[in-house]
Amino acid sequence: MGSAIRDWDVASYQRISVPHEEWAKSILERLPLNGDETVLDAGCGTGRLTRMLVESLPSGKVIAVDGSEAMVEKVADVVRPVDEAFVCDLTALELSQPVDAVTSSAVFHWIADHELLFRRMRACLKEGGRLAAQCGGAGNIDDFRSVSGEVAARRPYASHLVGFEEPWYYAGAEETEARLREAGFGEVRCWLQPWEVVPPDPVEFMRTLILAPHLDRLPADLHDRFLDDVLEAVGDPFSLRYVRLNLEAVAAG
Ligand SMILES: C[S@@+](CC[C@H](N)C(=O)[O-])C[C@H]1O[C@@H](n2cnc3c(N)ncnc32)[C@H](O)[C@@H]1O
Repeated sequence: MGSAIRDWDVASYQRISVPHEEWAKSILERLPLNGDETVLDAGCGTGRLTRMLVESLPSGKVIAVDGSEAMVEKVADVVRPVDEAFVCDLTALELSQPVDAVTSSAVFHWIADHELLFRRMRACLKEGGRLAAQCGGAGNIDDFRSVSGEVAARRPYASHLVGFEEPWYYAGAEETEARLREAGFGEVRCWLQPWEVVPPDPVEFMRTLILAPHLDRLPADLHDRFLDDVLEAVGDPFSLRYVRLNLEAVAAG
């Protein structure tokens, strides 16, 4: 598994991360808030979930953290003076004050060491504080990854992708529940949820999101050809079988 913190095309990400809007909503729907809490958005990206938190916390505070400088610059558009936004690797995150809740959408599968990640998230929470998160889970876009993997193994791409490993870790529900308990959480509940996505612009979606790590390794003059070849190999309709891993837990004493 490669490094997960990478440079993002932020403008493109904001345009094409349409499913992320629904994913963020589904997380907030299962996090009861009074409006005066302090909530960490772990891996805020351009701020889709962060904006919803800001709206839900009129007298509270949002702490938006991401490993990418470009993402944190962009999240400045949605945070208020009372909120905080800063760059930090979540596996090294330490907050000066523990928060009431931690949210995270479409982030945890970018991080290989879930034991360490969950320990950091637990340490960020007050006792009794809630974790409400979602990320890619076991089986996520398996069909697409298999087809794009076949294209990547062809010439002229294969020689540039020798030793390439996808940077994603798609964990299962039971193993995640066990890791959360081990990290100091109780009332743990995790489950997988199939979620079909039909991206409005498949080429841009692949370029910025699901094939971005491959393109990081390929020379620029092969990018369009690689994307066209994968598009053709996937065929019509371009429909992606996402599997979301939902995580709910309470920080134990
Ligand atoms: C697919 S984006 C999701 C962003 C946002 N939560 C959303 O729903 O649109 C994944 C984000 O996780 C961040 N990320 C990945 N690994 C990270 C790490 N170890 N520490 C902090 N941020 C990380 C990336 O920089 C990126 O902004």
